[in-house]
Amino acid sequence: MVSELTTKPNVDGGGQADIDHLRRLPSQLGQSIKGQNHMIGRVCSVFTRGELGFAHPRRPRGSFLFVGPSGVGKTETVNTVTAYLFNGGKPVRFDMSEYQLQSSVQKLIGESRDDPGLLGRALIGVKRGTLLFDEVEKAHPLVLDLFLQMLEDARITLATGEMLELTGFYLNFTSNIGSEETMRMENAPFASVERTVSMRVRERLRPELLGRINEVIVYARLNYATQREICEGMIGAELARLRALGHDLDLDSSVVEFLVREGYHRTLGARPMRGAVERYLQDAVTAALLAGDAGSGCITTDAHGERLVLRRAEIAPNRRSDEPARHVPLLSGGVPGRP
Ligand SMILES: Nc1ncnc2c1ncn2[C@@H]1O[C@H](COP(=O)(O)OP(=O)(O)OP(=O)(O)O)[C@@H](O)[C@H]1O
Ligand SMILES: [Mg+2]
Repeated sequence: MVSELTTKPNVDGGGQADIDHLRRLPSQLGQSIKGQNHMIGRVCSVFTRGELGFAHPRRPRGSFLFVGPSGVGKTETVNTVTAYLFNGGKPVRFDMSEYQLQSSVQKLIGESRDDPGLLGRALIGVKRGTLLFDEVEKAHPLVLDLFLQMLEDARITLATGEMLELTGFYLNFTSNIGSEETMRMENAPFASVERTVSMRVRERLRPELLGRINEVIVYARLNYATQREICEGMIGAELARLRALGHDLDLDSSVVEFLVREGYHRTLGARPMRGAVERYLQDAVTAALLAGDAGSGCITTDAHGERLVLRRAEIAPNRRSDEPARHVPLLSGGVPGRP
């Protein structure tokens, strides 16, 4: 629930190397997060100004509310920026669905002199990084009060009496407010989705909270072209991994469409994509290996389009070197598709 954080800062004193590093943040973010280009400038502006030390000295370095449906890149944005700016670090994450009770404040900041709470335990001794509070709309109102204090003063007092300084931190909140409604706006332009979500956010979250957050950013649903781009990136990574294990593979084009279909979910977005890519590609190679083959060749969909199969490369005896290898089906069935 609370993940580790790397404390080593990347930017200290604004030296040339650090400026170069900051300059590359937008392209880094654009490479990782597909189909959300509208947010890149705003996200990078807050983080860059924060790293240059321009934030108010008594406030967090920056703060965001990322709103949108599931699996569209909100958490991945925070993960990417954190890893980039904090030397491979991860955000310290809290899921607000676990903080819905009045006692949740104590869970965060402790309830006795010898209990620093989960925030204390994660942050004592850590000077810089990102905090991620998911599903902020679910937090108990007293927890929201704590957030107000964190955003306003960049410090909180733990039950132990210790003071946590948050001036080196970015506070990131995420929310799914308005998602169900915008799911029904399938063909609406993104500007009206953005307007509707912003309206619902203002109805649900207190103005004091919204007023203290640097940027409220609405994420778009992923269209087919974006889903495909995400899928292709994941296929590339998985093929590289399998190649490193000695499996020389290529794909026919039906495989990408198959994996986009299996990996994208109407309400979960691209969340199942990586699992689907890994499972179907690995299953095809596994079936080939279990059938006694070396596990290299061309992956393709089976005749029913239900699974992936590996076809062994057949080298014709008189094949010219510039002629592509033909592939013969290796298995009649492949690995049965899982539910
Ligand atoms: N826009 C995107 N670009 C690239 N990968 C994405 C994108 N959106 C989602 N993914 C993939 O899906 C996974 C889940 O996305 P992410 O954790 O960012 O969802 P989320 O928007 O935070 O959803 P939730 O509201 O459910 O927390 C990511 O780890 C990533 O692999
Ligand atoms: Mg998330």
